[in-house]
Amino acid sequence: MLEQFEGAATIEKVASLCRRRAFVFPSSDIYGGLGSSFDFGHYGVLLNDNVKAEWRRALIQEREDVVGLDSAIILNPQVWVASGHVVNFSDPLVDCRTCKLRFRADKLEDSACGKRPSKRPGETDQCDLTEPRQFNLMFETHVGALQDSSSAAYLRPETAQGIFINFKNVTSSMRVKPPFGIAQIGKSFRNEITPGNFLFRLREFEQMEMEFFVPPADAAEWHEYWIEQRLQWHLRLGLRESHVRVRAHEGAELSHYSTATSDIEYLYPIGWQELEGVANRGDYDLRQHAEGSGTKLEWVGQEERYVPHVIEPAISVVRSVLAFLCDAYDEEIVEDRPRTVLRLHPRIAPVKVAVLPLIGRDAAMVEKARPLYEDLRRSMSAEYDDAAAIGKRYRRQDEIGTPWALTIDQQTLEDGTVTLRDRDSLAQERIPIDGAKALLLDRLSA
Ligand code: GAP
Repeated sequence: MLEQFEGAATIEKVASLCRRRAFVFPSSDIYGGLGSSFDFGHYGVLLNDNVKAEWRRALIQEREDVVGLDSAIILNPQVWVASGHVVNFSDPLVDCRTCKLRFRADKLEDSACGKRPSKRPGETDQCDLTEPRQFNLMFETHVGALQDSSSAAYLRPETAQGIFINFKNVTSSMRVKPPFGIAQIGKSFRNEITPGNFLFRLREFEQMEMEFFVPPADAAEWHEYWIEQRLQWHLRLGLRESHVRVRAHEGAELSHYSTATSDIEYLYPIGWQELEGVANRGDYDLRQHAEGSGTKLEWVGQEERYVPHVIEPAISVVRSVLAFLCDAYDEEIVEDRPRTVLRLHPRIAPVKVAVLPLIGRDAAMVEKARPLYEDLRRSMSAEYDDAAAIGKRYRRQDEIGTPWALTIDQQTLEDGTVTLRDRDSLAQERIPIDGAKALLLDRLSA
């Protein structure tokens, strides 16, 4: 088992590339930023979309037993009372009376003292920590014109509850029967106290969650099944096996709703951290909402009636994207010049192919290159680049992880072939221009 991330990436290098190449910008930048909030630039949008598409493909499109949902962000506040979040969704905090900073009591070993950053809070004589207090992580807001306790509402801290409260709608309108799942992607909000490490812990992030409803006796088996399915998803899309592990939660770590949880952990450059949680939530949520709403939430079959148990794989887009970026980031020397390259899996790479006329001002080359580009972009994300030397254009694409480049040169004009350059091996092969699109589509679907 590795103890340290193996590769060229550090969080700082990845963050710097992301900013330089329009993946991620600090939010509210011109106003000095807002802690742990980020905006996504062009390539970040494409990368996020590709990760979400791969999740949807694996969990909905390629299965017969999972359906989609997109529930509201602001729900009836009673939802959060019944779910237990109003009482339980909190972190223990301590304040330091000396440096006036606030820390998570259970993460002191990962925090830096405000006066002596090389020490942890409580380690120096001057540190004066209060007793831990519980701090609820939900953001509060108000619905309507009144701003009193009757109008108080919350921004959802997880998408899962929107699924549970739609259990009856889905079972009565779709042809589903346990075991079946409801999957959704959407924004969640948490007033995190110790955010940081770039995209790792944000206050506003998109979650990809699926609640899989099963007969109670089968829950343990389905839990194992979903841990394995989700693990294979990460590996299929390129995470190195040595950087991924599964860790079962110990009793005290379990969330208030969970009977068993295993984290799929990734070895980020900051160490092993939760990438995705796969929880066995038992019948906790359906029972809580049945009691809270007075609506029966159970499965009624021909000969059976029971409250299903729930297996839940839950991950955020940013944690997934950060893992893919760290794993893919590489630096090397090629022909005496440094090269930074993102070796992203082609299916998640923001741009699939770059079309490059060798001489940007050569009308005959442009005449071949533009129609090729315009045809390719109907089927995949493509870029056309005719500025700067060809080597520089290749490097620009390497940095954003474009797996293939098609170069139009003198030979293209003579025999109708183009050069296909591979980002990782740097191999170049001649292929007929007419077959380029089919070849790339074939590679993308592999
Ligand atoms: N519905 C269950 C649930 O929300 P969680 O372990 O609190 O469980 C699930 O969150 C996943 O959401 C985590 O595994 C992680 O990928 C992501 N996540 C949680 N808090 C996050 C944060 N502050 N920033 C980014 N991602 C976060």
